[in-house]
Amino acid sequence: MSFTRRQVLAGLAGLGVAGLGVGGVRYWLGRPENVATHDYELIAAPLDLELVPGHKTPAWGYGGHAPGLELRCRQGERLRVRFINKLEQQSTIHWHGIRLPLEMDGVPYVSQAPVLPGEYFDYDFICHDAGSFWYHPHTTSAEQLGRGLVGPLIIEEREPTGFRHERTLSLKTWHIDEQGAFTDFLVPRQAAREGTRGRLTTINGEPNPTLELPEGQVVRLRLINVDSTITYRLNLPGGEARIYALDGNPVQPRPLGKEYWLGPGMRIDLALKVPAAGEELSLRNGPLRLATLKGVASSEVAGDWPPPLPANPVAEPDLARAETLRFNFEWAAALASPADEAAGRYKYWQINGQAWDINDKTCADRPIATLKKDGHYVFVLRNMAQYQHPVHLHGMTFKVLSSDRRKIIPYFTDTYLLGKNETARIAFVADNPGVWMFHCHVIDHMETGLMAAIEVV
Ligand code: C2O
Ligand code: CU
Ligand code: CU
Repeated sequence: MSFTRRQVLAGLAGLGVAGLGVGGVRYWLGRPENVATHDYELIAAPLDLELVPGHKTPAWGYGGHAPGLELRCRQGERLRVRFINKLEQQSTIHWHGIRLPLEMDGVPYVSQAPVLPGEYFDYDFICHDAGSFWYHPHTTSAEQLGRGLVGPLIIEEREPTGFRHERTLSLKTWHIDEQGAFTDFLVPRQAAREGTRGRLTTINGEPNPTLELPEGQVVRLRLINVDSTITYRLNLPGGEARIYALDGNPVQPRPLGKEYWLGPGMRIDLALKVPAAGEELSLRNGPLRLATLKGVASSEVAGDWPPPLPANPVAEPDLARAETLRFNFEWAAALASPADEAAGRYKYWQINGQAWDINDKTCADRPIATLKKDGHYVFVLRNMAQYQHPVHLHGMTFKVLSSDRRKIIPYFTDTYLLGKNETARIAFVADNPGVWMFHCHVIDHMETGLMAAIEVV
């Protein structure tokens, strides 16, 4: 296998691996202290998948998997990943939702030079926050994410939480036809609307899987939307489920309710009380089944709802002294010139009148806003269009304050699903110096203009 987790090998050699199989998922809590350069070697390479029975899909994967192998680190510890590029094109890895130094953020020409085919790059950063995160390239994103270069990154809490069982569910809808061949990842007329949707929805690369869960236990389900376009309308009819975290940040536990809209890039951690052995629940996207959750016999004593997860060490914005900045997310397809389109330069979207040009390496030299280091800011996000945008900020975690469309219980996140024609307010402390991407996570919106740089100096 192309992936090696050195600490596992080190652990087998007697270096004290503390981890064990939990809920059928094998993971390791031990960290080597004497591995000189890195903990993980993560190879991006072509990988044939059988998503459609009897047919081959020429995917790209991380560590021999697509979605990629699950990486884990303990909160407060360093994560060191040697990324080896065995693709035929340049790439990078961006660590979605992780507050890290700019040099580790994975944005080409801003944080680092792209990693060329055959080369490697060592990512090395401290994971300050516990929760469900993910990783993906920030280069030729429609194709690279589309082909499967997406993977979960789980940061474990410092102390055991009340959860004894957990599962990670990475949701992705592949752009493939009935023979498993890829279809276009970015169709211009779709990019100018809601984004180009795939056809085959999978969880951890499997269409409609059945997940067996121990009856009577409370299981933590980490749902990660690694898709490029689709907002999944999650619901679990008849299931007893509570929300414990949103986008890697704990919330006061509350019932899942009728439906939760999980936009591209977003995560939700649910606690599910598993039904009796033999009973099944349907995890659904609107009316469509995503997975069957099935209770199986277990000799463990029934679990109870764990206490809330501990808050992450995110600075609290002080609204009384915050400066307010406004950002309009606009549809600008009418501005696209036929010459640009013919050259493959599509500009359908803009923020405050500026469209990001994905082929122009100097865009980040013209930040849309310059913030003072450690300043407090309120951003007013206004969606002037009919299509929703999961608005994502790199490098810092923000607090969602209010919306003119829905009731908000303020919470910390890195991605906010801005509904059609919605205006929302977010706030944060600009405590991380650098040039940070601020973009819609519908990848073809991002690649056709809906991205900007926010500078913190
Ligand atoms: Cu998942 Cu630029 O981000
Ligand atoms: Cu990100
Ligand atoms: Cu968008």
